Amino acid sequence: MKKKLLIRTLQGEKTSRVPFWLMRQAGRYLPEYRELRKQAGSFLNLCFNPEMAARVTLQPIERFDMDAAILFSDILVVPHALGQKLEFTEGEGPKLEPLKKINDIDFEAFDKKLSPIYETIRTVKKNLAEDKALIGFAGAPWTIACYMIQGRGDNEFTEAKKFAFSNTAEFDQMMEKLVAATSHYLIEQIKAGVDAVQIFDSWAGLLPEPYFGRWVIQPTQNIVKAVHKVYPDFPIIGFPRRAGMFYQDYAEQAGVSCVGIDQYTPLDRAICSFGSKVAIQGNLDPVALLAGGKTLEGEIKRILAAAGKSPFIFNLGHGIIKETPPAHVELLAKLVKAHER
Ligand code: CP3
Repeated sequence: MKKKLLIRTLQGEKTSRVPFWLMRQAGRYLPEYRELRKQAGSFLNLCFNPEMAARVTLQPIERFDMDAAILFSDILVVPHALGQKLEFTEGEGPKLEPLKKINDIDFEAFDKKLSPIYETIRTVKKNLAEDKALIGFAGAPWTIACYMIQGRGDNEFTEAKKFAFSNTAEFDQMMEKLVAATSHYLIEQIKAGVDAVQIFDSWAGLLPEPYFGRWVIQPTQNIVKAVHKVYPDFPIIGFPRRAGMFYQDYAEQAGVSCVGIDQYTPLDRAICSFGSKVAIQGNLDPVALLAGGKTLEGEIKRILAAAGKSPFIFNLGHGIIKETPPAHVELLAKLVKAHER
């Protein structure tokens, strides 16, 4: 069997073609997703229906032939499995009952709640071509804590941050519990068959020094250690969004095999500063993909040129915007696949 292109890149190999997948590649910009989503009735019903979630996971691969599928689920199923009430309201995003303390974790109950997700993984693996990778994922403790405390989405998470800054010892304990839950969850996903995992720290950029180290790098490092204790060298992608000048520290200290960078981080400089230590993923502005045309073509070419021969995974700097025309994704797939290096 030929080794999967994405996994070879995650192991630091210089491949003749750049692998690609897109954050939020399964989702509302696809009519076939909207159809299944309607049948499911709600977003959470879709996440917890293994047969439907597996179909949604495979939809973008069938259309665009990406090198990896990402498990269809959500980062907020972890607070849900820890007993926090969660709902997604149409047009408004997630709502959780605000919670500042996590009880001792009952891992049996946790796995029971998440068992449909492990089943989705097994179902996808049966239907995914051998040369494609399946990526599992979880939210990083900091990002999950932001939603758990604030109870809804926000751009600044001031309430959550204020709680963390006013109750540092208590917050440290919460982070420890989230590290345990996340490590356990990722290990179970690996047992079920995923080929790599990504840790989404979407709100990493909200933390100043020294808290970036304390609540972004440290917890991630602890999760990586826990996973590697059971599965040594297992490929892990870390995505500390909007980490700015902290990206290098994260790349050097978190222990991940690959760092996802946002669209605000110049790829050529990221490669110079930490591209010899980890593989790099990301960088295309989701708005360039939304806009299409000459700007999209130009940006794809710039990124591929900047990547040069270094281990690089083509992706966005954040998730696909729901108004994105599928034809733009088709163009991206064509250009990235045609690029030889
Ligand atoms: O990438 C994929 O295709 C896999 C599935 C996936 C979803 N969410 C599906 C989803 C993944 C990996 C996520 C991660 C996620 N979820 C993150 C981290 C990445 C990021 O975007 O920063 C975060 C912060 C969440 C939490 C979340 N889920 C929010 C804030 C929202 C509402 C915003 C929105 O886009 O509607 C969601 C909902 C959600 N997650 C949708 C999808 C397809 C849309 C819900 C729908 O179909 O009704």
